[in-house]
Amino acid sequence: MSLVPYALTRPFLFGLDPERAHELTLDAIARLQNTPGQCLWSQARVADPVTLAGLNFPNRIGLAAGLDKNGRCIDGLGAMGFGFIEVGTVTPKGQPGNPRPRMFRLPARQALINRLGFNNEGLDSFIANVRRARSFRAAGGIVGLNIGKNASTPIERATDDYLACLDGVAAHADYVTLNISSPNTQNLRALQSDAALDALLGAVTTRRDALATTLGRRVPLLLKIAPDLDDGQIASIAHTLKQHPVDGVIATNTTVARDAVQGLPHAAEAGGLSGRPVFEASNRVIRALRAALGAGFPIIGVGGVMSGADARAKREAGADLVQIYTGLIYRGPALVPEAARALQPR
Ligand code: FNR
Repeated sequence: MSLVPYALTRPFLFGLDPERAHELTLDAIARLQNTPGQCLWSQARVADPVTLAGLNFPNRIGLAAGLDKNGRCIDGLGAMGFGFIEVGTVTPKGQPGNPRPRMFRLPARQALINRLGFNNEGLDSFIANVRRARSFRAAGGIVGLNIGKNASTPIERATDDYLACLDGVAAHADYVTLNISSPNTQNLRALQSDAALDALLGAVTTRRDALATTLGRRVPLLLKIAPDLDDGQIASIAHTLKQHPVDGVIATNTTVARDAVQGLPHAAEAGGLSGRPVFEASNRVIRALRAALGAGFPIIGVGGVMSGADARAKREAGADLVQIYTGLIYRGPALVPEAARALQPR
């Protein structure tokens, strides 16, 4: 469908530094979205409507957070055929993230390592960008806004940052994701442990319910967790999730494990590993969550989806919806309709 096959674009992009390739691509999408130039990458959207967490998703395939951290390309990315787009992670104040280089390709394993560290322009710019998006929403696309904490905020005050972000984004979000699972913000993943998670979810769901009176709707809240959790930790997160009016869970973020890439160039770089090597690890978390949470609880599966068959495997593990990031880098936009078609009822 797209005018330029990704097989022609990829060698050019892979010849560049990964973050430079990322910036060039997003700049092009930002400039050409909603113009006839969008036909360069657009894909017909596969119809497979499903209602989850009170939202009507046009199909089950979404873009995972972190590709469009500032929310400036929602319409252009949506034109790849996604049913939903998650943008962010946004933090209250803008911040530069870690020093470069901080993004690495491991093509032998269809993987990436990143330690970006929530580089973003901050809440005000994010909201202005999200408000500018039109065509994706007009066509029924669902927009998720992913929120986090500033590096400079002590972890004991993390809740303040999540509340500040929630206050800002709630009116503009179909759903909001609490990202407590990036490995690149010091101590962030400690928020996954019992008491800290209980306190965070208590505060954030209370604020969400308070905002509902002015907004006229209760914005669904999702929690995004890491793959590097043992069975006991997953069970305990599931238990805490059930104690609060949380609307779903996203499993998983990137991994700090390196066993699958040992010995490869860049394997020793610090950061989160994504793509093929995280596929099974995230499926394991999805299966454990589904067993602990029961049939009705919304789960979005993400990690290492490179094909329609992989998307189906996420469904079989227990995910209701599936997100993609690294697969898009290796396979290009054609992966989106391929994965969406694979999840259509047979
Ligand atoms: C990410 N991911 C991510 N997740 C998140 O919640 N907030 C973020 O800001 C980011 N940033 C980010 C940057 C880069 C370069 C990558 C590769 C990934 C994690 C992403 O959303 C996803 O959970 C994992 O990458 C696993 O899925 P894939 O990439 O294997 O499909």
